Order: sequence, then C-alpha cells, then structure tokens
Amino acid sequence: MCAASLASCMRGAPDGPPRSASPDAPAPAPGDAASVPLPSRAPPPDVRRLAADPRQGSAIALADLDGRRVAYVADEDESRVRVIDVEAERELSSFAPGGAPAALLMLPDGRLVVAVRDAGRLLVLRGGGSASSPLVVDTRVDVPVEPVGLALSPDDGTLIATSGWGRAVTVLDAHTFTRKAEHVVGREPRSVVVSTDGKRAFVSHAVGQSLDVIPLDGEKAKKPLSLGGGEELMDRAIMAGVQPRVACQGFALAKTASGRVLAPHVLVFPGEPEVSSGYGGGEGREPEVFHVPVIDEDAASVLAESRTLRVGLDGSPTRCALPRAAVAGRAGLFVTCLGEDSVVLFDADAINPHDVELKKWSVPAGPTAIALDEEQGRALVWSQFAHALTTIAIGESGDAAPKPFALSSLTLVREREDPRLERGRVLFHATNDARISGDGRACASCHPDGRDDALVWSSPKGPRQTPILAGRLEGAAPFGWNGDAPDVALHLVQTVKRLGGTGLDGDDKEALMAYVRAMRAPPGNVARAPAEAIARGLAIYQSEEAGCASCHGAGGDLPDGAQHDVRSRAAADTQAKFDTPSLRFVGGSAPYFHDGRYPDLRTLLVKSDGKMGRTKHLSPAELADLEAYLETL
Ligand code: HEC
Ligand code: HEC
Repeated sequence: MCAASLASCMRGAPDGPPRSASPDAPAPAPGDAASVPLPSRAPPPDVRRLAADPRQGSAIALADLDGRRVAYVADEDESRVRVIDVEAERELSSFAPGGAPAALLMLPDGRLVVAVRDAGRLLVLRGGGSASSPLVVDTRVDVPVEPVGLALSPDDGTLIATSGWGRAVTVLDAHTFTRKAEHVVGREPRSVVVSTDGKRAFVSHAVGQSLDVIPLDGEKAKKPLSLGGGEELMDRAIMAGVQPRVACQGFALAKTASGRVLAPHVLVFPGEPEVSSGYGGGEGREPEVFHVPVIDEDAASVLAESRTLRVGLDGSPTRCALPRAAVAGRAGLFVTCLGEDSVVLFDADAINPHDVELKKWSVPAGPTAIALDEEQGRALVWSQFAHALTTIAIGESGDAAPKPFALSSLTLVREREDPRLERGRVLFHATNDARISGDGRACASCHPDGRDDALVWSSPKGPRQTPILAGRLEGAAPFGWNGDAPDVALHLVQTVKRLGGTGLDGDDKEALMAYVRAMRAPPGNVARAPAEAIARGLAIYQSEEAGCASCHGAGGDLPDGAQHDVRSRAAADTQAKFDTPSLRFVGGSAPYFHDGRYPDLRTLLVKSDGKMGRTKHLSPAELADLEAYLETL
C-alpha cells in the first residue's frame, strides 16, 4: 500500500499506467462514429454500478469492474478520465475525452457519462477501462457550453446536466439521450440532485444565492429558492442572531435517504454600501460563515430553522470557506473544503447540520470530489491540486467513531506540470493564510474558479463589484475599477491590504501572479442569437453614433486604458472617473458597472444612454442585436 503523498508510488509500479489502452486521438466531430466496435478478443466487460450509487455526478464514480472495485476519476488538469483499481492502488488505464472532464456518472448498464467541460458535450463511454477492455465512446450528446454537473433520476430514466457558463439545465432521456427540456437559469449552475419521487431537480449555483427547483414531470416552473439570510429575515434575524447575508459558493448539493437536500455554501456580509476600511465584514460581523441550509424535497422549501446561524453568539463557526463537494451517507454529510484541504463530516439529521461537526480529516491539496463506498467502510477523495486519490476510513454503519486519518493516498503521475502555477493555484485557494487576509478569506472566496462572485463589496473607495479574472487580464491594464494599479502585482498589494493580510513576497508572490494570468478562461460566447443578428450588433457597436468602440476598442477586449466620467459616481465613491473595463466575457458577468447598478445588459444599454455611448436611436430589435454581440465577447 502506498503511504500518504508518496509521489513515487505510481511511477514505481512495475508496468506503469498502460496508457496504450486508451486511444489519445482528439475527439472526432459530434455525430460520427456513434459506436466503436469492441476489440473482438475481449469478452464483454462486467461493469456493475454499486447498489448504493448516489445517482449524482462527481469527479469520482465508483463501480465494480470484473469483480474489482474501481474508481473513475475526472482529472481536469490532464483532460483524462482515469481508471483506478482501488484495492491494488494502481491506475488501470486512462481515457482522453477531448477536453476537461468535470463530472462522471454511472448508468445502470455500466456505461459512464462524462461531462466534458470545455467541449460543451457529454460523452457516454462503455468498455469499463480494464487493460483488455478500454473505454470507448458509445454516444456523444451536445449540451449548452460548459457542462459541469450531472444527475440521474431514481428510476434511471432521466439524465440532467447543468451548464455553468451556459446558464442552462438540460433534461435528457437517459436511454436515448434525446432532449426533453432545456431550462435557462441564473449564473453558474453547478450541482444537481433529483427528489426521491423523481418529480423535481434541485440545482445549486457557484455564484448568487438561489437554488433552482426544476420540474421534471411537466409541472409549472417554480421560483428559485433563496438561500441567503437576507432582508426578508431581518426581524427574525435580529431576534435569532441571524444576520442579513447573501449566499455564495454553492458548488455542492447532497441528498439524504430521508429526503433532505443539504446545500453547503458560504454566507457573506459584503458590507454596507458606505466606504469601509476593507472588503465587507465590519460591525462585529464575520465577512464569511459556512452554512448548510436544509431543503425539504417534497415541499421544495428551505426549512426555516436551518437558516439560524450561531455566529458571534456562542463560539466560532466552522470554517469551510470553499466547500466544493458533498455527499450524504449513513454517517452523515461529508463536505470537502478547498483551502483547508479537509473533509468534514456533519450530522445530516441535525436542525442545523453546520453546527454539528462530527469529524474532520486532512487530505492532500485541492479536494474537489468525494465518493462513499459504505460497503467497505471508506470514502474516496479526489484532490485535484495534489493529483491524489485518498482513501479515508469512515467506519461501519452506526459506528460513531470513524478513524480520523487517511488510510492511504495514491499520487498520480502528471504529464503537464508547472511547479510555479501549481504553487500559485494553492495560494489562490489558501484560506487562513495571514499573508493574504486577516480573516481567513482566500482569493477564491470572491473569485470562484477565477471568475467573480457577482457581489458588490464595500471598499475604501466606494462600492466595488468583483471582476472576472480568468482570461480577462491580458491587455486590460490598468487594473481596478478606477484604474489606479498599472499592473497586476500592484493591484495585489492593494487587495491584500484591504483583506488585512500581511503581504506576499518573493517566489510566492510571483507564483500567485503567474497563476492569476494563466487561469483557464470561461468558454466565452453565450449568445443564443443567430449569426446575422450578431453581425448587425457588431456594426452598431462599431458605429460612430453608438460610439462604444472609441473607449472599449474595436473588438471590446482592448479598452483604451483611460479613465472617464460616465456619470456613474455612487454616493460613497471617492472618484468620479472610472477606467474603461474590458468587455471580455461581459455576457456572463452580471451585474454591471463598478457598483453593480445594472442587473443585465439590456438595462445597461437603455439606462446608460448619453452617459457613455449613445443607444437612444436604436430600435428594440437593434438593442437586441447589440446585446447579442456583447454576449459573444
Ligand atoms: C472580498 C472579495 C475579494 C477577494 C478576497 C479578492 N478579490 Fe480581487 N477583486 C475584488 C474586487 C471587489 C475587485 C475590484 C477592486 C477595485 O476596483 O477596487 C477585485 C479586483 C481584482 C483584480 C483586478 C481585476 C481588474 O480587471 O481590474 C485582480 C487581479 C484581483 N482582484 C486578484 C485577486 C487576488 C490575486 C486575490 C487574492 C490575493 C483577490 N483578488 C482577492 C474582490 C476580491
Ligand atoms: C467614454 C468612454 C466610453 C464609451 C463611449 C462607452 N463606454 Fe462602456 N464603459 C465605460 C466606463 C468608464 C465603464 C465603467 C463605468 C462604471 O463602472 O462605473 C463602462 C462600462 C461598460 C459596461 C459594463 C462592464 C462591466 O463589466 O460591468 C458595458 C457592458 C459597456 N460599458 C458597454 C458599452 C457600450 C455597448 C457602449 C456603446 C453604446 C459603451 N460602453 C460606450 C466607458 C465607455
């Protein structure tokens, strides 16, 4: 057995990972080769889904392959699906799905669904992935850009995929993979679970505080649930010690056998709109608190008592500032926390699960997925940053004292690795690093996935909305809404000061800067409009009358680098002039302007007339064309 973080484990294996078993050819175009014949010498593989399969997508899927327990792992960095023999702790094979796999899901017949994040596609693989029976593509299914979450209905008849950047939830027939419905939802949908009766799906969002309730049986669409401890709870809030807060970091959902949907996320207090000394918090309020609201799957409503937070009343809250994956089992609710690199077990049946922490395990850096193997009394955790698959002992059912240590950890061989970027990624997600912040926050707290939290924070210069970083810094100097940092490094100094950190220097500073510049950009183009409409929108954008290009550049991504007074000064702003922002990815970064005053592009185009460009002369159809163009940037 390999000892924890023994990187040489895999390399030392006598035969190494048999890469030859997986064709590395780039994925062929969709539509062709719907089936590839299995090699004739191979007997049909015996792939069995586990009896207790959660029917929820994850970067780890467990199954039995020819009598052995295997873990399929979605390795986003290496763009591979890896097949690991769990007992032997060795990689059996790997498969290149033609992009970064974000989630995996086992079908009842042993086929594996892969959500290929950057290919806008689901792949259905068969073959199991043993040396004699490689994984091969069975079916390709195109879905809106950036599929990240998957779930299957309890009767295995319906497959649901969430598309993060594409803001969509696609409902498919799980046998034919034909589309039954597509729902447009709020920003950055991530995790999805289906109710026990199969009537509705719940969808979490990495950004924003809503939880969607998607009808699966033709019922009328329901309003999304709000997870925040917001305005409507103010009175009760004061009585109960609950604070007005907004929810974010909703990457994970789990469902218990008794029908409770658990939604681990973080509640933030971005501050009053007045000038503040830092970013949010203040008035004795923690800027961020981990929270697990409980949703009754039948009533499709948040249980009111689960909204209560004990912060500031008795004892400090649990810190899981970057929850990323969750699963519920007999022992309780397991949540993986980036930054503190832990797996925390909460009491899933408690009124407030976040208040009842039962156990905590330390795992290698970057735990982004967890799968339970209750039959064997263990859980498997995938740490994307460390490239390690860790087995932790969770005990027999009813065993209240699981062993609080990792049993073993297998570090996988990497092909592409830049130690500086790896270090930078760890720093970007580092919670409780006093050099970065005084209150434990990480860069990723406000820039999840290198993007933005859609929040407006109070700051020393006035209200400031978080910008997207990934893929949006090149050519966009100077930085900050006022443009007062000529380069990213100087901006970092300002950020760390606002966060109350002591400051980074030397190699760590360089590593963080390098990572911030190299982060994987969102997939871009979210326009649903036809090409002609987009072309008309471009012509309007570049026209003299509208005047957009004079500041934002001919293509929207190379702003003039100058500050302008576009009459957008808010009461608390210390300056009237703002730096022309890059419009890259603007279609996916609502709300708009430094203080988030415009909820969507259409409102911005209509209401900003005469202040920056001109739009009054445009007909509603022309406005729609201009909006469609902006959505392609
Ligand atoms: C509390 C939320 C928060 C945290 C934590 C945070 N940021 Fe930001 N970030 C913001 C906001 C708000 C702005 C806009 C600041 C302004 O205009 O004054 C911003 C702006 C930036 C910019 C400039 C982008 C541009 O286009 O102008 C960079 C780069 C950046 N942040 C990197 C980081 C890094 C690196 C960290 C971790 C050390 C970090 N941020 C932590 C909220 C945050
Ligand atoms: C005089 C220079 C100037 C012109 C002309 C101009 N803009 Fe802007 N634009 C700005 C500035 C400055 C901001 C930031 C204002 C703020 O945040 O308070 C901005 C912000 C925006 C934003 C919001 C970006 C975000 O991430 O929040 C969009 C979208 C936008 N402009 C589109 C346009 C369009 C479309 C036109 C033409 C109709 C246009 N702009 C014309 C300077 C200009």
